[in-house]
Amino acid sequence: MDFETIVYKKEGGRGIVFFNRPDKLNALSQKVFEELTVVFREMENDPEVSVVILTGGPDLFGAGADIQMLSGLKSSAECYLFTGGNSAYAILEDMGKPTIAAIGGFCLGGMLELALCCDFRLAADSAKFGLPEVKLGVLPGGGGTQRLPRLIGMTKAKELVYLGDFIDGQEAYRLGLVNMVVPKDQLESETDKFAKRLMGRPPFGLRVIKGVMNTGINTSLKESLEIERQGFTILFSTEDKKEGMAAFMEKRKPKFIGK
Ligand code: COA
Repeated sequence: MDFETIVYKKEGGRGIVFFNRPDKLNALSQKVFEELTVVFREMENDPEVSVVILTGGPDLFGAGADIQMLSGLKSSAECYLFTGGNSAYAILEDMGKPTIAAIGGFCLGGMLELALCCDFRLAADSAKFGLPEVKLGVLPGGGGTQRLPRLIGMTKAKELVYLGDFIDGQEAYRLGLVNMVVPKDQLESETDKFAKRLMGRPPFGLRVIKGVMNTGINTSLKESLEIERQGFTILFSTEDKKEGMAAFMEKRKPKFIGK
């Protein structure tokens, strides 16, 4: 499939989206959002894709929403329609497969908000994170004010959103914003290694676990424990549960089939 603003390729079970607007530091234009929506749906429905990776390579992730595009929105009404019409974030967050953002450089604004919709964030030591929208007189409108505090807690999230300053990969790791920090020349290989480990787990199991965790975190403890119980019950009748337990008893590696 050919796109203008992204490059999409499949490699051994991995669906890899490469952001490709280098002259604009991969800023998110309306076209990028449209293409992401298409490619996310494509990956969701493709049985050959087990793990989704978003990346801009070892030097850049992306500098956020396209400020030229944003400044072209003429009224609050237009702006409201723009944010409502942008479903790429929700589609990515709800994708029933593990998703990884591999972050090499600037990861700002709307691009950080995309990364927040992923299950995992792996950073190069050269990465820089921030939600600088306040400096433009607006706020992070792609979920940043809500997903960031859920991930790292309100104290640091408010500091990042109110001040709009950047932090580096090590600080992002310390805050629990990223899963690991690696030297930038190892970002691709470490991401592939991580993806392959995920591919060794039962795919339907991961789908149910993701649904339970993503839904549960936004409900009360009582409701979320019931959601967990139902997820456990669903997985109990799968072929992969039989295989996983049989493999343990027989002291061998399980071969999961996703059923
Ligand atoms: N939207 C549109 N264009 C952007 C952009 C954005 N978010 N971020 C960078 N660009 C463009 C610049 O305008 C510049 O284009 P030009 O060469 O045609 O002038 C090009 O990308 C390179 O950016 P530049 O600012 O020259 O690079 P830098 O290395 O000096 O600074 C940043 C990098 C990321 C610190 C700086 O570009 C920046 O602050 N960008 C905006 C980040 C932001 O506010 N994001 C949230 C948007 S809601």
